[in-house]
Amino acid sequence: MNQEKHWNFIAPSYEEEIFDVFKSDRKKILPFYFKKHANSKHRAIDFGCGVGKAFPFLAPSFKEVLAVDISQECLIMAKKLPYSNIEFVQADLSKPDLHFEQADFAFCCNVIMLPEVTKNYTMLRTIQQSLKSRGNAVVILPSLESIFFASWQLIRLYKLEGIDVKDIDESEFHYFKGTKRDIIQGIMYINGVPTKHYSEPEIQIIFQEAGLKVTAIEKVEYDWNTEFGTVPDWLVDPYPWDWLIECKKA
Ligand SMILES: C[S@@+](CC[C@H](N)C(=O)[O-])C[C@H]1O[C@@H](n2cnc3c(N)ncnc32)[C@H](O)[C@@H]1O
Repeated sequence: MNQEKHWNFIAPSYEEEIFDVFKSDRKKILPFYFKKHANSKHRAIDFGCGVGKAFPFLAPSFKEVLAVDISQECLIMAKKLPYSNIEFVQADLSKPDLHFEQADFAFCCNVIMLPEVTKNYTMLRTIQQSLKSRGNAVVILPSLESIFFASWQLIRLYKLEGIDVKDIDESEFHYFKGTKRDIIQGIMYINGVPTKHYSEPEIQIIFQEAGLKVTAIEKVEYDWNTEFGTVPDWLVDPYPWDWLIECKKA
């Protein structure tokens, strides 16, 4: 898939089509991590900034922010937000040998999720190289465990309605549309788009290989209504989640 075309096409309907991590973050864990790393003398980079959902946290917390995205259309929308300490660059983060002025802090939310897995490693490497020595990053990645858990809960919901797993319509298992090889690699279909998902042990390995020391892995939890149209009262904790990885340049 051509990422630039895809995201330029989505930009005008971004609000309706793209899941808002910041709004849905039940425990407000993202503001906690922004506050933890805030420093008015520091420089931050928002890798894959989209239409600028992280700007209200980043712009007031850092001296300067570089916002990078592949989509010129998303950048045009992001530029309309009222912040004076943000610079913008259009770049394809899956290309090797990108150079940015090094920053103290990097943020990257639901960007490193291409179905071409080696491109994701390149993006992680670019984040690592863009950090100053001992610089920190917070990366949000789709969780493979969460997808399997939500699908297991879906089967339970059907069971309670008297429908056996073998009778559930295939369309309900749309995440698993790919080949066996896709599924093993964590490539799930979200609204028909092949999207790389990560397991926790895999994250530990790939971050280490990219030269990033993981300092925390936490869940960004979402309500069940992000998965299902009707949510029974008993369906509570554990909630579906993305992974939040806090890491340091090793
Ligand atoms: C799901 S959106 C997330 C946007 C933003 N980080 C947020 O959380 O609101 C993914 C963003 O990554 C950008 N993106 C996708 N592939 C990219 C690439 N190869 N290089 C740079 N940006 C990319 C898209 O243009 C889009 O803005």
